Amino acid sequence: MDADGADGHGTTTLGDYSIRQGADLMVAPYVLHRNPTIFPEPERFDPERFTAEREKELPRYAYIPFGAGPRVCIGNSFAMMEAQLIIATVAQRFRLRLAADQRVEMNAQITLSPLDGLRMVVEERARNSQRQPHLTAELAY
Ligand code: HEM
Repeated sequence: MDADGADGHGTTTLGDYSIRQGADLMVAPYVLHRNPTIFPEPERFDPERFTAEREKELPRYAYIPFGAGPRVCIGNSFAMMEAQLIIATVAQRFRLRLAADQRVEMNAQITLSPLDGLRMVVEERARNSQRQPHLTAELAY
C-alpha cells in the first residue's frame, strides 16, 4: 500500500500515526484478526463469532481473509462453498482426530501452514448403534 500525501506537505495521518508520502504500509491480517477488542479471546475456537448477526456487528475491514478493495480475492464465494461442502461430506462419515504425536506449529510464509504437516487419524462413524467405529486410515497433510 502506498501512502498519498494528504496535507499538501507529504504527510497524512492514520489513527494516531503520521505517515510520510511514499511510505510503504503493510496490513497484517494475522494481527488484525487477533485484535482482542474486536475478537475477544482471539485464540479460542469459537465458530459462533461468525454467525450472521455477530458478523453484522464487526467494523468494516475487521475480518479480511480474502483481502479487500479492488484486488479482493475472486475465488471468495467459491472457496467458502467448496470448504462447506467438503467438510459436511467428510464429517458425515468420518471423525478426524489429531495423531497422538503430532505437534502443531505455524509455518508463516505468504500463507500460514502447519510446519510439520498435520497427520490425522480418520475413524469411520458408526452407521447404527450396534456397530463399533473402526479406524480407517492415518492421513498426512
Ligand atoms: C480459502 C481460500 C482462499 C483464500 C483465503 C484466498 C485469499 C486471497 C487473498 C488474501 C487475496 C489477495 C487480496 C488482496 O490483494 O487484497 C486473493 C487474491 C486472489 N484470489 Fe484468492 N483466496 C482463496 C481462494 C481462491 C480461489 C479458490 C480462487 C480461484 C478459483 C482464488 C483466486 C484469486 C485471485 C485470481 C486473486 C487475485 C485477485 C486480483 O489481484 O485481482 N482464490 N485471495
